[in-house]
Amino acid sequence: MASEKLAINGGKPAITEAARRTLKPWPIPDEKTAERLKQVYMSGNWSFNGPREQEFSRKFADYCGSRHGIFMANGTVTLQSALHALGVKAGDEVIVPGNTWIATAMAACYLGARPVIVDVEPDTLCLDPEQTRDAITSKTRAIIPVHLFGSIADMDRFMAISRETGIPVIEDAAHAQGGVWKGRGVGSIGKIGSFSFQQSKTLSSGEGGICLTDDDEIADKLYRIKHIGYGSGQRQGQAASGPAPGLVCHNFRGLEFTAVILTEGLRRLKAQTARRDANARYLAGLLKDVPGISLQARGRRANVQSYYMLTVLVDPKALKPDVTLQDIKTALAAEGLHCGSGYGPDYRHMLWNLPRRAFRIHSSAMVEETSNRRMLTL
Ligand SMILES: Cc1ncc(COP(=O)(O)O)c(C=O)c1O
Repeated sequence: MASEKLAINGGKPAITEAARRTLKPWPIPDEKTAERLKQVYMSGNWSFNGPREQEFSRKFADYCGSRHGIFMANGTVTLQSALHALGVKAGDEVIVPGNTWIATAMAACYLGARPVIVDVEPDTLCLDPEQTRDAITSKTRAIIPVHLFGSIADMDRFMAISRETGIPVIEDAAHAQGGVWKGRGVGSIGKIGSFSFQQSKTLSSGEGGICLTDDDEIADKLYRIKHIGYGSGQRQGQAASGPAPGLVCHNFRGLEFTAVILTEGLRRLKAQTARRDANARYLAGLLKDVPGISLQARGRRANVQSYYMLTVLVDPKALKPDVTLQDIKTALAAEGLHCGSGYGPDYRHMLWNLPRRAFRIHSSAMVEETSNRRMLTL
């Protein structure tokens, strides 16, 4: 039974030390994976489209319902490669939400293109389709909705815009491994889906990423872009065919080690996602009548939502004038619950050093409002 008195005022913390000890750290290591890693190490076959990379790429693409999976070093180069494979180049515009990790926008800059910042929906906090439509110009070459914190951007409306305009959609699904939208795996709906498997992600190998696509030609381009020009299935030192003239290729290869960690993690993903989803629904039920707070909305047509974070929005009007969001965080920390503040607008991030002419802000009122002033992420 929780203490009536808040811990910050001297009451007993709601999350006791004993309860805290039952929590597992993330990611969760296990002996079977450790054994498989040792086998990879002893095999001396550590990279270059080895059998574990092929196994994981196939299994993850199948899991999400996509024809091709192209495994890479991280979820930043997957975005860059996706834009590159779609022919994005200097002078083009790429629409991105203003409330995301900066990599979504930076991916456009690596190709000399201009990210165009568009606002997010007030409920899902994902890219707003109507404002996206308004932001389209003759230079727009791609749209990147982000399934923020596991909520799912409105893929029906983005795909309708794509059909009308011919502009391809890249899903940035870095936060949404295992999510399902109207029966389809997240990341398999747009022209290309991009995932990150960085340390904190719900499917993680420390670093790693993958692009998904149903399009054979784009799959071939993605593969060559990440593999210094080699085609899929070609052995090291034995290129059977070269990349198309002018297609600049990189070394964005992933490792056999990370592929093994991910294949093992993938076995658990379905059950873990279902559990997170059920827990989030339970908590949402408990919090629904608490005045002044609301949860980030689930994807409107989500069958399964893969929660990367649980995001709570605090209505500043419901707070006493002298109470700040930081005060709430401090009080929650005293109860044993440490939470973050989500993302601020990407163009205000400390690491965002683009000159003003290198990006365009189309709309950002909601992004500004939800940023640090009223967002808590658990
Ligand atoms: C929304 C989003 N997109 C892209 C990335 C980039 O992924 P990575 O860190 O694997 O490069 C991240 C990383 O956290 C992210 O949160």
